[in-house]
Amino acid sequence: MDEVAEVADEVLRLTGIRKSFGIGTPTETEILHGIDLVLQKGEFVALIGPSGSGKSTLLNLIGLLDRPTSGRLCIEGTDTTTLDEAQLTRLRGHRVGFVFQSHYLISAFTALENVMMPMLLDRGRPDAAMRTVARDLLARVGLADRADYPASNMSGGQQQRVAIARALAMSPPLILADEPTGNLDTKATEGIFALMREIAAASGTTFLLVTHNLGLAHQCDRIIELVDGQVVTAG
Ligand SMILES: Nc1ncnc2c1ncn2[C@@H]1O[C@H](COP(=O)(O)OP(=O)(O)O)[C@@H](O)[C@H]1O
Ligand SMILES: [Mg+2]
Repeated sequence: MDEVAEVADEVLRLTGIRKSFGIGTPTETEILHGIDLVLQKGEFVALIGPSGSGKSTLLNLIGLLDRPTSGRLCIEGTDTTTLDEAQLTRLRGHRVGFVFQSHYLISAFTALENVMMPMLLDRGRPDAAMRTVARDLLARVGLADRADYPASNMSGGQQQRVAIARALAMSPPLILADEPTGNLDTKATEGIFALMREIAAASGTTFLLVTHNLGLAHQCDRIIELVDGQVVTAG
């Protein structure tokens, strides 16, 4: 592949990313010590490492929820380190989807309303097109018949499916999943994992998946291992 084509397929590029907390205080600590990482379009990548190694900190930076102390973080070729808050918010809303260990659904809302939420936040008020997109996404995650159920009435696995549909609502090129099956039993875990793989294969969405489940990690395209804030294996 020539260099231009490579850059065009690059969803994410981290160069020398460092993150410290408590800067200027006696407890100042550097948590990430210079991370280099590239994710290509459509890759399905596992991020593993011991508890406290910095996986969530790294995901929060990639998801533009927090800023690195130094280094460059490019999403689809855009250097995010120079953007202001409004530009970051827009990029986060459109280019990155999140799935967390806890689904963070609004329990009083229906599945459909939860999936509509990112579109509603972006456009300000509901419209018919949003409903159609949300219904299609719920069908895609196997919940067509649960669209009008309150999120609180669903099983853990179903709630996580709704969270995945919500993450897809803005068609982001990159989905970050931080231990998305951490609270699920084996059967639900396998279902959620298979669903994410299927979405990646069908839509070319790139996934970065934090997991403690080595069985799942080995089914991914590649494993990145973080230990004490450094990448020790990038397979
Ligand atoms: N906001 C914060 N302020 C201070 N320390 C933090 C903060 N967030 C995370 N840390 C510390 O950073 C380290 C890595 O945490 P984390 O990224 O959550 O690890 P992991 O997700 O791999 O378990 C831990 O020592 C944690 O205490
Ligand atoms: Mg974590």
